[in-house]
Amino acid sequence: MNNQREILNNKVHKDLQSDRILGVIFEYMAKVSMENDLEKSLMILADLGKKLVVADRCSVWLYDTSKQTIWTVAAHGIEKVIIPQESGFVGHSIATGKIIIVEDAYLDERFNQEIDIETGYRTCSVLCIPFHNSNGTVIGAFQAINEMTAQGTFSEKDSEILGLAATYAGKSLESAILLKEIIETQKEMLETLGEIGESRSQETGNHVKRVALYSYLLAKLAGISEEKANLLRDASPMHDIGKVAIPDSILLKPGKLTVEEFEIMKQHTIIGYNIFKNSQRDLLRTAAIIAYEHHEKWDGTGYPNGLKGEAIHIFGRITAVADVFDALGSDRVYKKAWKIEQIVAYMSEQQGKFFDPILTQLFLNNLKLFIAIRDQHSDVDRRN
Ligand code: C2E
Ligand code: SIN
Ligand code: SIN
Ligand code: FE
Ligand code: FE
Repeated sequence: MNNQREILNNKVHKDLQSDRILGVIFEYMAKVSMENDLEKSLMILADLGKKLVVADRCSVWLYDTSKQTIWTVAAHGIEKVIIPQESGFVGHSIATGKIIIVEDAYLDERFNQEIDIETGYRTCSVLCIPFHNSNGTVIGAFQAINEMTAQGTFSEKDSEILGLAATYAGKSLESAILLKEIIETQKEMLETLGEIGESRSQETGNHVKRVALYSYLLAKLAGISEEKANLLRDASPMHDIGKVAIPDSILLKPGKLTVEEFEIMKQHTIIGYNIFKNSQRDLLRTAAIIAYEHHEKWDGTGYPNGLKGEAIHIFGRITAVADVFDALGSDRVYKKAWKIEQIVAYMSEQQGKFFDPILTQLFLNNLKLFIAIRDQHSDVDRRN
């Protein structure tokens, strides 16, 4: 009986023939394996799913454990769609690890109508298949919508075929997901490290965060690309990491440092540089440069190397402006915060001496933007 039905179906519908299925899967997997961009990989796999089960639409969803959401990219373009973890068929499929086959979505309470309402689309039949990473954890799901053959609903066979694709999808997405996670982890690590450096020197509250935001802003004002400006922002919290190795007796000294003490203090630039210098990663290499060069001065009187002018990396010159602007406006164990008028007077007086003249001008011309950041991320106890 089953056989008869299958023969009939194969006549009427344009289902993929069994012998073609593996070929199609391998062809797409080859494409995915050559793609480094996670979002583009999702699109390729969605395409594959659509073809395999003759669906009108297919999407590939990933589970983001840290944010407890599931997300995909919209079929045309790179717009990201994010929904709560347990929402809709996809959410259920990911939460339970079970395949879902539905004939009419609107008769099913698990259906999340929001996307239909937003897009004017009419979902009818649905097939959801979860896929796993190599540990067996569910990391995402295929969702095919509206079977296009005369049958109009997804069959067990569709589910087997898409299941086969899901086995490969899980494995091929795993490395792209890991790469993305590594990059996110690096960023978090740097921020945490920066905060540790900050708390050891008891620098108030949000110093590293503000320096990162000022640096990004100044980079953008200087016409630096978004990509490089992001790199600078993410690495700049590391500028003072070398202070973790400076003895408390110096770091926390309430008064002015002696010449000898300041010589030791200057080592924080070299220590920071040594922490990161051997890394091959862009982000950590950037951190090395910033740690090394943020106390160099335009006129060559800075430390540790007395570099001059454009011999100082642009990231170092930018961080110098950002760091001093923030340090002057903050209480330190050794000094009180300066008033904004004093700070601005000092910054313009140091234009072309301490600081790159062009960067100083950009800073002064856009002072309002910097002050807005300062106010938005002010330390709770600034006025105490
Ligand atoms: P920091 O407190 O983060 O200050 C960073 C930079 O901001 C300083 O680099 C300096 O260029 C500028 N700055 C901060 N406060 C003042 C100030 O009151 N007057 C002027 N003209 N500039 C200021 P610098 O001087 O190379 O110092 C590097 C680090 O050494 C400082 O980082 C701080 O941790 C420490 N430090 C410097 N001077 C003293 C001090 O007299 N006593 C103590 N305990 N630490 C100091
Ligand atoms: C659902 O599974 O219903 C949510 C996602 C979607 O509608 O495509
Ligand atoms: C459609 O809405 O496109 C038809 C319904 C179906 O094929 O399940
Ligand atoms: Fe420093
Ligand atoms: Fe600093």
